[in-house]
Amino acid sequence: MDTGERLGRPRVYVAPVLEHFLNPRNVGEITDADGVGVLGDPACGDHFKVWIRVQDGILAEVKYKVFGCPAAVATCSMMSELATGKTVDEAYELDDLDILVALGGLPEAKEHCSNHAATALHKAIEDYVFRKTNEERGRDPR
Ligand code: FES
Repeated sequence: MDTGERLGRPRVYVAPVLEHFLNPRNVGEITDADGVGVLGDPACGDHFKVWIRVQDGILAEVKYKVFGCPAAVATCSMMSELATGKTVDEAYELDDLDILVALGGLPEAKEHCSNHAATALHKAIEDYVFRKTNEERGRDPR
């Protein structure tokens, strides 16, 4: 079953998407973040940056800044809510479909926005793991 079948693929922004767009959660930066992920889409010009703070293996804080369409804002907002409080492994398993389902779907032309939000999170987690590994090996963690 593809995403569209599972969600009924709405033609317009559904209420949860509009609500997250109008009241985005967890916007901002984390000073001294444990991981940072950046993603830009040359096709649409949108830009995503995600910061994570990890405490005892849990994503204690997830923040982002996004320059993009309403779907980009809403998907980042939902991504931050879904990822916060999860273990690093659980958060890394979050994907675009999890975000789409939680939001009630997006118009087909906007589904890639959820992919970017998930990918930016994954990049922040990969950065965290890279830094942690370097730290454990006694190298400069940056
Ligand atoms: S249109 Fe490209 S991220 Fe929304």
